[in-house]
Amino acid sequence: SGLITLDPGYKNSGSCKSEITFLDGELGILRYRGYSIEDLAEKSNFLEVSYLVIFGELPTAEQLHQFEEDIRKYTLVNEEMKNIIDGFPKTAHPMGVLSALTSALTAFNPKSVNVENSKEMYEAVCKTMGKFLVIATWTYRKSMGFPLNYYDNTKGYVENFMHLMFELPTGPYAADPVVINALDKLFILHADHEQNCSTSTVRMVGSSHAGLFASISAGVSALWGPLHGGANQAVLEMLEEIYKTGGDADKYLAKAKDKNDPFRLMGFGHRVYKNFDPRAKIIKKAADEVLGTLGVEDPILAIAKKLEESALEDEYFKSRNLYPNVDFYSGIIYRALGIPTDMFTVMFAIGRLPGWIAQWKEMRENKEPIGRPRQVYVGHPLREFKR
Ligand code: CMC
Repeated sequence: SGLITLDPGYKNSGSCKSEITFLDGELGILRYRGYSIEDLAEKSNFLEVSYLVIFGELPTAEQLHQFEEDIRKYTLVNEEMKNIIDGFPKTAHPMGVLSALTSALTAFNPKSVNVENSKEMYEAVCKTMGKFLVIATWTYRKSMGFPLNYYDNTKGYVENFMHLMFELPTGPYAADPVVINALDKLFILHADHEQNCSTSTVRMVGSSHAGLFASISAGVSALWGPLHGGANQAVLEMLEEIYKTGGDADKYLAKAKDKNDPFRLMGFGHRVYKNFDPRAKIIKKAADEVLGTLGVEDPILAIAKKLEESALEDEYFKSRNLYPNVDFYSGIIYRALGIPTDMFTVMFAIGRLPGWIAQWKEMRENKEPIGRPRQVYVGHPLREFKR
């Protein structure tokens, strides 16, 4: 084992070559397929970015139209999936239900388990994009005890998210274009982030030639943790707690700095960004715009700004290069759009889906070997077996 390099958390190990996302943590640069995140968030939409991330080039108008049509074809989810949903308690966390339902899709679509050519790959991509969106919203409908909705063929992909979530039998539901626009932006900003914990998980599981649904189900589980995607829920719960206990942000800063206290300032710090998270900059601006346009006054936003200001001036955070990350402001927008807090990480998963798919596809197309790290054994030497 002398030749093995120990690198817990893979802080300095590259696990693959990739053409999908470029990230410079020092300069705060993030690009998908060579296009800056700022440009894409401003000028594109989520489905176009999904196509770009997955297939490598921006689609022509015709390709984009076809992609949308092909996704639409696969948005019907087997009715028997409803029996599985019925088995969960209403109080189950949506991320746990989402992971289970994604895995269950394998049972109903055995052909998507393995792809053998580019046609099957394309079908697997469209199926995953279609069915995942629907089941993601079903986790919310289940928690509310509402009837499950079906994809509406007259609406776009992101618009369908709002329809699937919020339309009730009592009347039609029309989402505000401001809301759709904000969601497009948020999903774009989450679309890929190179070899983060959930994406590495998707690639690792897929490297054994497990199918796309099974690999993505594992990615959902990895994303759920509070150090990763679960941070967006944790941030909002933290801000609410600060608000409810009198708004003393400094008390929470002190807790975060106390090495005897396990509390961390949620939404702060990043493994790779050491100057700022470019996504957080865009989201902070979007939060101001969305709340302003929708006329929402949220005291939580003021607390978040105060907390950020104090942390940025604080020696502890400065010396460790801890800045607000993507999760710090996203929850404030989700909240303004009427998304319940325990659905925030599901929102992250919907946004990250094209990235997971693209990375799985790249891994398979590059014929990468099975992921199998080594270890440095530090246990007992040989012992004689005696009771
Ligand atoms: N609050 C207080 N101290 C922190 C924080 C924080 N949020 N983040 C890092 N530190 C300290 C940490 O205690 C350590 O201090 P010391 O050197 O004295 O031991 C130092 O900063 C370095 O931290 P680390 O844990 O070694 O860094 P890491 O790269 O392993 O962890 C992280 C990165 C994102 C897991 C971590 O910063 C964190 O836990 N942040 C809070 C959770 C969060 O917001 N996660 C979302 C990440 S971005 C989007 C996503 O992936 O979903």
